[in-house]
Amino acid sequence: MSTPSIVILISGSGSNLQAIIDAVVEKKIRARISAVISNRPDALGLKKAAAAGIKTIVIDHTGFAERRQFDAALSQQVAELEPDLIVLAGFMRILPAAFIDHFTGRILNIHPSLLPEFKGLHTHRRALEAGHDQHGASVHFVSNELDSGPVVIQAKLEILDDEDETALAGRVLELEHIIYPLAIAWFIEGRLRLIDNHIHFDNKLIKEAALWQHETLTLP
Ligand code: GRF
Repeated sequence: MSTPSIVILISGSGSNLQAIIDAVVEKKIRARISAVISNRPDALGLKKAAAAGIKTIVIDHTGFAERRQFDAALSQQVAELEPDLIVLAGFMRILPAAFIDHFTGRILNIHPSLLPEFKGLHTHRRALEAGHDQHGASVHFVSNELDSGPVVIQAKLEILDDEDETALAGRVLELEHIIYPLAIAWFIEGRLRLIDNHIHFDNKLIKEAALWQHETLTLP
């Protein structure tokens, strides 16, 4: 059997990308990253990919007159790569519906909140403003509604007294680097599948996501 391939889409610093690259190098994820695609030519993550010897592709959205032209270019590029899994790692563009439909069950995203809370941007600030005592991150399958697909795993932490947005974001990001490679490894090993929009883990339909909290993993 050939090694499964992953395509990773980024827009920014690529710290999750780096965590995934490390997990591939350490053989915790038994797959090959066939390309890293960025919609921003200046994304730091591109340098991280190149340093790891991974093919990088830039599809600069500002170079297209219309959004659908960018969408078409991205869709065509990803389709040509024929990935087994598409990983969104800080990719700040909304994917076209046809793309999501075509690759349904094969696109994962990480979002810095305990979904379904705080979809969208500025999640850490909103969690603080809401006075929450817990916060975290979620890995989910991508569906046609923003930040709404079935959740695979969450990482939870307690918000500290007087913690500011930057400090909280940093602590959440550290947890992201743990749970994202885990979820990707499960998918690559065939333990994690999306069937009829429901998550199956080890061939069982699961109702609750896996949880990483206090350095302990609770499987679904
Ligand atoms: C992370 O906070 C992730 O949850 C969100 O975008 C950010 C990406 O950070 N989707 P990085 O580029 O992986 O450092």
